Amino acid sequence: MRTLEWESSAQRLKLIDQRALPSQLTYIYLNSFQEAAEAIRNMTVRGAPAIGVTAAFGMILAAIHSKATSIDALRKELVSASQVLNASRPTAVNLPWALKRIMVVAGEEFASIDELRSALLDEAFCMADEDVATNKAISTFGAELIDDGDTIIHHCNTGALATVDWGTALGIIRMAHEQGKRIHVLVDETRPRLQGARLTAWELAQYKIPYDIISDNAAGYFLHKGEVNKVLFGGDRVARNGDVANKIGSYMLALAANANKVPVYSVVPTSTIDLSLANGDLIPIEERDQDEVLDIQIHGQKVTPEGASARNPAFDVTPHHLLTGIITEKGVIYPPFSKNLFKAAAGM
Ligand code: MRU
Repeated sequence: MRTLEWESSAQRLKLIDQRALPSQLTYIYLNSFQEAAEAIRNMTVRGAPAIGVTAAFGMILAAIHSKATSIDALRKELVSASQVLNASRPTAVNLPWALKRIMVVAGEEFASIDELRSALLDEAFCMADEDVATNKAISTFGAELIDDGDTIIHHCNTGALATVDWGTALGIIRMAHEQGKRIHVLVDETRPRLQGARLTAWELAQYKIPYDIISDNAAGYFLHKGEVNKVLFGGDRVARNGDVANKIGSYMLALAANANKVPVYSVVPTSTIDLSLANGDLIPIEERDQDEVLDIQIHGQKVTPEGASARNPAFDVTPHHLLTGIITEKGVIYPPFSKNLFKAAAGM
């Protein structure tokens, strides 16, 4: 089961509708780049690697439906489409990374518009397949750090659903489980969109990995009691010095883990590393609609008073000094991150 799949016959992108999980496994079909941008914005598809590859296929939709009669005219339309897609969510660098890869191919020499379209499609397929291979490589390195009997706190959803398939931090847990290690996962529910309670719990149940959902504010309790061996989360953008932007709550979790001397790992493909930013303060942080925080019901009743207001940053930045390591497909990167991240991202 892939989170997203290109349907060649219908020339459309098929996505799992993550808003309907876990009660329903349904699909949504995207026919235009505008629909792809909207699916990213409204979180039908979410997770840094998955939104990157969705944006790449969004560019394919733009190329296929273009009425341009020259390669130059098509390139101009692709630039506009990439701007719309790029604006759909600001924090995950995988989005501009994927768009740039498509635009680089679009800039090559072609004999015809159809040849250009087919080269773009090849690149998008390549990115989708690469994503799965990258996640398996990350998981092979990461699983070496997991011991039999570990209890792991995991934040947000970094599984197959957050990627094309397999997952990053959750991929490590999955691989360690397949290696026969007994693992217990404490699943942070991940307010306000509940990616942990809805999506990670759903995935863990499919893989038959034992878990308990905890409210985000219970993590400190379990860490202090000595019940947790490791903390794993993903990443949406890693700055040059190793500061990591990830789902809101990651920072608090890392602080509590550090105070209790529990190792913390961020797990990312190297496409999530942004060497252009010196530190995490420069990472753009998405602030989403306040209704995501306010529209909660308990026992069928809205809990917040009429007219209440809320702030809703979707990500926070964990400073590099709180991280034990950053696990990538090139291996585990340890401090000093500014030196070692550069080597990994540059492929040395
Ligand atoms: O808002 P989301 O659900 O897109 O946020 C997802 C995360 O923060 C993930 O941890 C991150 O994208 C890594 S997914 C492999």
